[in-house]
Amino acid sequence: MKEFDTLIVNIGQLLTMDHEKDGPVRGKELQTLPIIENAALGITNGKISFVGPGVDAKGFVAKQVIDAGGKLVTPGLVDPHTHLVFGGSREHELALKQQGVPYLEILEQGGGILSTVRATREATEEELLAKASFHLDRLLSYGITTVEAKSGYGLDHETELKQLRVAKRLNELHQVDIVSTFLGAHAIPQEYKGRADEFLTLMERLLDVIREEELAEFVDIFCETGVFSVDQSRAFLTYAKSKGFDVKIHGDEIDSLGGTELAVEIGAISGDHLVGASDEGIKGLASSNTIAVLLPGTSFYLGKEKNARAREMIDAGVAVALSTDFNPGSSPTENLQFIMTLAALKLKMTPEEIWYAVTVNAAHAIKRENVAGKIAIHRDADLVIWNASNYSYVPYHYGVNHVKSVLKRGKVVCE
Ligand code: NIG
Ligand code: FE
Repeated sequence: MKEFDTLIVNIGQLLTMDHEKDGPVRGKELQTLPIIENAALGITNGKISFVGPGVDAKGFVAKQVIDAGGKLVTPGLVDPHTHLVFGGSREHELALKQQGVPYLEILEQGGGILSTVRATREATEEELLAKASFHLDRLLSYGITTVEAKSGYGLDHETELKQLRVAKRLNELHQVDIVSTFLGAHAIPQEYKGRADEFLTLMERLLDVIREEELAEFVDIFCETGVFSVDQSRAFLTYAKSKGFDVKIHGDEIDSLGGTELAVEIGAISGDHLVGASDEGIKGLASSNTIAVLLPGTSFYLGKEKNARAREMIDAGVAVALSTDFNPGSSPTENLQFIMTLAALKLKMTPEEIWYAVTVNAAHAIKRENVAGKIAIHRDADLVIWNASNYSYVPYHYGVNHVKSVLKRGKVVCE
């Protein structure tokens, strides 16, 4: 007789996402999803120990039985791009947005990212921890069990390290797994105005301590008009690679500068935003291992007509992931399910493509493909039980939270 700590029965659709091939899922492979109908799932010591068609309860012993009520069960969602740790908020900028003041102009005037920098410098480590923990609870409530978190609201040694230490502590304290990225090159602080190269050198000097204290795995940069150029980004990320980091890039978000091509050229683990990606950039991505992390919530919130060319990317064979870009300026939301709806409506992605983009491909974008984004034997039981009977329902019925419960390493952590 098989014994489990927890047995989930009466699963209408079990979306395992356990694609037979390793690697991110792209091209024709996106057309089908690995699904078991009328399934059951067993958990032992926090790991998945049984996955299969509906079981006869008599043949099993379980300390806890969860009835999924004929609903959908999926892997915990992976959010591969957030700015989780920050001080303050920016609701005062909403009126400026309504008056049509562009995002980069608000930044140029010392607001935007720089306003959050001031609030983050002023906040104590404990305050930042409490605030980030609140937002992380909310990400979890929307079904996210693994999240990437960037620094970038310090722009000085002390505050960048403070942000990264908060993320590290939170990873230890909270059920959600956090993967850290150093985004010291997020903007040019006012004290370095006109001296971007000097500022980048200052940020480069932090890399050794970040490495020693294991404060981040990835290094990112905001490659944008008025922030850092393609040449500066190339030099900075190449240096980070020489220090042993994998790199990411905020590229082609607002203006088409060539950040997508740069992501491919330097072998970035992901290129993020890519709204203005050129045809060449898309071609390059398709024949690379770089994941395109698309953030339609940001285009929506910045009031942009133009969205990333997801259809062309996917049709060309680019591996695409989706994310909230949760941050206090361009995308204040923890609701990845709403992003899934935007992906359907604005990016014209199919439900199947969307589910790969928030599980397997998102895990690849933060090098967690071996531990997150799939339901498979011996993996951690990071699961979502949904108030939906099929996977297409989640992007369809928008703006609400469809999560019934979330399990992290086999324990119900949110209901
Ligand atoms: O991904 N573009 C740069 N960084 C963030 C926004 C940060 C902010 O506005 O505070 C982004 O959109
Ligand atoms: Fe971002």
